[in-house]
Amino acid sequence: MAANKKLLVLPGDGIGPEVMREVLRVVDWMAKHRAVGFDLQEGLVGGAAFDAHGTPLTDETMADAAAADAVLFGAVGGPQYDSLPFEQKPERGLLQLRKEMDLFANLRPAIVFDAMADSSSLKRDLVAGLDILILRELTGGIYFAQPRGIDEMADGSRKGYDTNLYTTPEIERVGRVAFDLARKRQGRLTSVEKANVMMSGVLWRETMTALHAAEGDGVEMSHMYADNCAMQLVRNPKQFDVIVTDNLFGDILSDCAAMLTGSLGMLPSASLGAIDETTGKRHALYEPVHGSAPDIAGQGLANPLAELLSYTMLLRYSFDMNEDADLIEQAVQNVLNSGIRTADIMQDGMARVSSTVMMDSVLKELNKLAGV
Ligand code: IPM
Ligand code: MG
Repeated sequence: MAANKKLLVLPGDGIGPEVMREVLRVVDWMAKHRAVGFDLQEGLVGGAAFDAHGTPLTDETMADAAAADAVLFGAVGGPQYDSLPFEQKPERGLLQLRKEMDLFANLRPAIVFDAMADSSSLKRDLVAGLDILILRELTGGIYFAQPRGIDEMADGSRKGYDTNLYTTPEIERVGRVAFDLARKRQGRLTSVEKANVMMSGVLWRETMTALHAAEGDGVEMSHMYADNCAMQLVRNPKQFDVIVTDNLFGDILSDCAAMLTGSLGMLPSASLGAIDETTGKRHALYEPVHGSAPDIAGQGLANPLAELLSYTMLLRYSFDMNEDADLIEQAVQNVLNSGIRTADIMQDGMARVSSTVMMDSVLKELNKLAGV
């Protein structure tokens, strides 16, 4: 069914390769049992690419990513790269992929599986059943806008500066994605900025208000300042359905939302470009919200579920394979319900397992569910 679809796999650094290795077992299983076949290609990114080629992303890998139907990404970074010049740091590889593929819409769901409600640092009733979606603008704002730099001043001191800049088209295109997503969910959207102190925030609010009047049918939209949003996320997270916000606030608020669920090790994300009107295709990259976790890398401890759920997002958003994605998510739920846990989500009385045993368990459930 999906033959000839090209998937570029970029495991990256730290726990990236470990969790990717586990997820590729499910990718194999899907090819065998569900006819979900991909042409797989693997590449280096981040510190791994730097070690091999002296750059966090080669032109060849960049071209492979642009040509792929979807990219499955692991994680980048590690302390051994901390002293590299800015442009060679592992994170630059990821930022270049986002920018050059124009992946402006970053979907970061924060979902609390029933079996996991006690892992949150918040009380169970605040988070049980939580299902919110943060839509982060990913290619603009302070991450990329010019001018930025560190300059010497006449008195010998230095100044470091960045620019937070948004244009109306940049706000509108992510705003449209937000309306679409909200319509498919509960129809509620919170647009987040700091219009009380930032000019880019004033423009963000004005643009979202006008766009909502013109194109926001079926969506109930409200505005919230980013600091208040951080507070509301830990006070009463279930008040939210979809949150749309800029690149920097989205980075911060999505970490906060992630922790509501009890573990970063469970959360996937999708970064999407615009749909090409002639081909109907869009660039897309899928990655766990967690980082490379150098402290536990190489020990077989990492939770492979965020990477696995990134793969299920890939099946949904790039290939409309919703039933296949449902099947994997059901298998994950069953495994969690059975009390199997990696270290990051360990609870009293449950069975603590390695990355590999976690995926063995998912594969066993898949076999059961599929009757093979
Ligand atoms: C994220 C990460 C990245 C970001 C880093 C690794 C560059 O924190 O995806 O949230 O800041 O966007
Ligand atoms: Mg982040």
